[in-house]
Amino acid sequence: MAFSANLFHVCCLIFFAFFFTNPIKCVDGEGPLPALFVFGDSILDVGNNNYINTTTQFQANWSPYGETFFKSPTGRPCDGRLISDFIAEFANLSLIPAFFEIGTDKFLHGVNFASSGSGCLVETNRGIVIDLQTQLTHFNEVVELLVNKLGSQQSQQLLTDAVYMFSTGSNDYAFPYLTNPKKFPFPKEQFSEMVLGNFTAILQAIYNKGGRKFIIFTLPPEGCSPGGRAFNAQIGGKSGFNVSIEACCGTGAFKGINSCGGKRQVKDYELCKNVTDYVFFDASHPTETANQQFAQLLWNGTTDVIAPHNLKSFFQL
Ligand SMILES: *[C@@H]1O[C@H](CO)[C@@H](O)[C@H](O)[C@H]1NC(C)=O
Ligand SMILES: *[C@@H]1O[C@H](CO)[C@@H](O)[C@H](O)[C@H]1NC(C)=O
Ligand SMILES: *[C@@H]1O[C@H](CO)[C@@H](O)[C@H](O)[C@H]1NC(C)=O
Ligand SMILES: *[C@@H]1O[C@H](CO)[C@@H](O)[C@H](O)[C@H]1NC(C)=O
Repeated sequence: MAFSANLFHVCCLIFFAFFFTNPIKCVDGEGPLPALFVFGDSILDVGNNNYINTTTQFQANWSPYGETFFKSPTGRPCDGRLISDFIAEFANLSLIPAFFEIGTDKFLHGVNFASSGSGCLVETNRGIVIDLQTQLTHFNEVVELLVNKLGSQQSQQLLTDAVYMFSTGSNDYAFPYLTNPKKFPFPKEQFSEMVLGNFTAILQAIYNKGGRKFIIFTLPPEGCSPGGRAFNAQIGGKSGFNVSIEACCGTGAFKGINSCGGKRQVKDYELCKNVTDYVFFDASHPTETANQQFAQLLWNGTTDVIAPHNLKSFFQL
């Protein structure tokens, strides 16, 4: 636990799980498992970007991605499972499929809409990612399928009992703002309001469809990953991982150049031997081992980590 709490603070990940008063009575005890709908960026992308016209910068569907758990690449920017995969597992759900990979019989326990590189704003990496607004459009298509399949009352119940997970925002700040702040067209505060305003509108739209249980992660754009410049080297020893600063896969200082697998701009890369010793798999994405630790904290964590509910009680609400 000491490790997890440390890693948690190091990475400045903030989790909120909140629950709106539910107008429909929850199913007690042996009721159906709640669905899990997942939105956002690369922290949660399980392969949606395999299906769109994008660049390899925002894809990871080649070896050695996926090698630890899946034994082959899936599109997840990780050696194995993501936080949402573990949460589904803890909740006794099967893996939540990517929106583009599912057949219409597979969406009853949720769908993953996340897209690497995306942000809250449609301008963020426009044209080469699935922005959050489009992810909402995809969600609305799924809602229609659910209504057709289950009828309006049962689909309403499913949407109200479901858990909605988001990781978004960091790409909005990372790309335009940090790459060239002088040229950025808005004052910083106005920009934050725009990002938050758009995110709030998405949450409101899901609320209007019946959604009540929301989990939101925010991960600041730099300083946490080997690709970030401001990483504080001190924390390494406390984390319980043998190598917490350097990425497992990539090249350059701390393997901070995101060349894992040699399909992006830079072709050279090295791969570590013991991936479970590492926090980061590539320059900006955690290893499966780190994701498992995060997920465990979210699931069982006390209120200093996740509030007002941990996910175990959240899924059972
Ligand atoms: C994909 O994007 C490239 C570059 O923008 C474009 O030239 C190409 O026509 C697009 N392909 C499809 C199938 O949309
Ligand atoms: C998952 O299944 C196990 C074994 O049946 C059960 O003990 C546990 O309570 C279930 N967890 C949830 C969150 O439903
Ligand atoms: C959403 O973002 C757009 C830019 O993409 C901006 O013009 C608009 O004002 C934002 N909406 C809200 C409610 O903040
Ligand atoms: C760290 O490395 C040491 C020696 O190389 C090894 O014995 C130990 O198991 C490693 N720790 C972890 C957490 O893998």
